[in-house]
Formats: sequence, structure tokens, C-alpha cells
Amino acid sequence: MHTWMVNGLSALGLLLIATGIFFFAATRGALLLRAFAASQNATSHVYPIYSNKWLIKLVDYQPIISAILLFQYPRLVTRIVEGLATSDLTGKTVLITSCAFGNVIPRVTQASVDAGASRILIADVVQNELTHARAKLVRYGNLVEYVENDAVAMNQRSGIASANILFFLLHELPHPMKIQALKEAGRVLEAGGKMYLAEFHKPKPWVLKALSWTYFKVYEPLGLALWDSHDPVLCLEAIGGWSCERRTYFFGNFQVITATKL
Ligand SMILES: C[S@@+](CC[C@H](N)C(=O)[O-])C[C@H]1O[C@@H](n2cnc3c(N)ncnc32)[C@H](O)[C@@H]1O
Repeated sequence: MHTWMVNGLSALGLLLIATGIFFFAATRGALLLRAFAASQNATSHVYPIYSNKWLIKLVDYQPIISAILLFQYPRLVTRIVEGLATSDLTGKTVLITSCAFGNVIPRVTQASVDAGASRILIADVVQNELTHARAKLVRYGNLVEYVENDAVAMNQRSGIASANILFFLLHELPHPMKIQALKEAGRVLEAGGKMYLAEFHKPKPWVLKALSWTYFKVYEPLGLALWDSHDPVLCLEAIGGWSCERRTYFFGNFQVITATKL
């Protein structure tokens, strides 16, 4: 092998290792350190990558975010957008429960406005995330409202929203909070309203299952429960009052659930 190829491969290897260490430090590593701190609060489970304004700006680039979701990001968002586009949201409120990186918020907002929504409400427990989201939605002006709310105890009255979008929130929440967040998502929806929930899902091929399992164990240990004990459809069925439709993507590694409140 040529020396330049060896150097190139070494540089790539080092870059991958450095990226892995950076993401670990900005996510689970920080939470492990935080566990030693005495006080816990509503944001103790939130990774610095989602709360520190500089880290948010550093990471939020579409190619990076798409790569993390194995380039399935646009397909998952499209499924949600298609659901919104085929709903009559005239004069209705669409709720986005928790911010997310990439273009999901602008795409969901545009689809909701096109479907007639008169109000988009974005709720997140971290103010920096709301500020970041606002910068992406300047052109919608007062149509969009930003509220600092906890998904497990929303400061909103029951039935205010006709659609509620939870994009990769559940896997980051401690298990009891997962159930509570689903209950709250239902409470704030009107009857007949739809919840769109995008998440990880247990993949079929063993190679992908092994890689995915390793990823969760290292970076997002709270996410593995979505494969079994906290499968969102099973949780919603146990809560009751939902009709669920699930579509999986990329050998079953991701899912979008469209849940209609009965
Ligand atoms: C929904 S996840 C999105 C992760 C995903 N990997 C992405 O594409 O960005 C991260 C967001 O959830 C928010 N969040 C975490 N816990 C929350 C809670 N209990 N209530 C509301 N928002 C929460 C964080 O502040 C952050 O904005």
C-alpha cells in the first residue's frame, strides 16, 4: 500500500475516533459526570449537546444529523409531513413537543401552514433549543409560539392541538418519563387528533441489531427499552384510547408511528 494511502486511512481513523469521543463527552459522558452532582432537575437527563447553545450551533448541520440517522432522516420527516398534508388543519394548532436538529421543524411548520394551521406551538424544556428553533422559523413570525414546557407536565390545556409531533424525544427520556410523556401528548391532543412519533426501532438483520445495540449501550442506554419493554405502540395500547399505525424504515431500524386519539 502507498504511504499516502496509509496516512489517509490513519487520518480518517483518528478523525472517527475523535468524533466518537466528542459525541460521547457531549452526551452520555456528561450525564455520567452529572450523576455525581447532588441536585437533579427537569433537565438533568438532557445532553449538553441539546442544552449548550454553542454545542447546538456546532452540531446542527443537516449532513451530520442525517448521517446519525443513517441517512433516513428525510424519509422519516416526509412520512410526518405527508400525514400533516392530508389533514384538514384549518384554524387549528399544531404542537411540536421538543425541538430537534435538522430541518424537521421548518418542514413540519410549512406542512402545517399549508394544511391551514393558524398556530404552531413549539415546546421544549431547554430555552436555548427554542431560541435556536426560532432562528430557523423567522419567516413565520407570530404564527409560531415558543414555550418552555416539560413534555411530561405540559403547561397547556387539554385538547388544544390537532397534531402533536414527537421527533426522537422518547428514547432520551428515563423510562417512567417515557410513559408520562405519551400520556401528556395524548392529553393535549383533541379527539381525532394525530400524534406523529419518530423513533428508533429494533432492526431485523443481526448485524444491524448488534451495531445498533452497541450504539445504544455506549451513547443512549435509555433508548434500548424502545425495542421491548417501552415499545411506543405497546405503551400506547396499554394506556388506551389510541389507534396506531406503524411504519418501519431501513431494515426496521427506525419507525414512524401515526397514532390517532380516539
Ligand atoms: C427531541 S430530542 C432530538 C434528538 C434527535 N437526535 C435530533 O435529531 O435532534 C432533543 C430535544 O428534546 C428536548 N427535551 C428533552 N427532554 C425534554 C422534556 N422532558 N420536555 C421537553 N423537551 C425535552 C431537548 O431539550 C432537545 O431540544
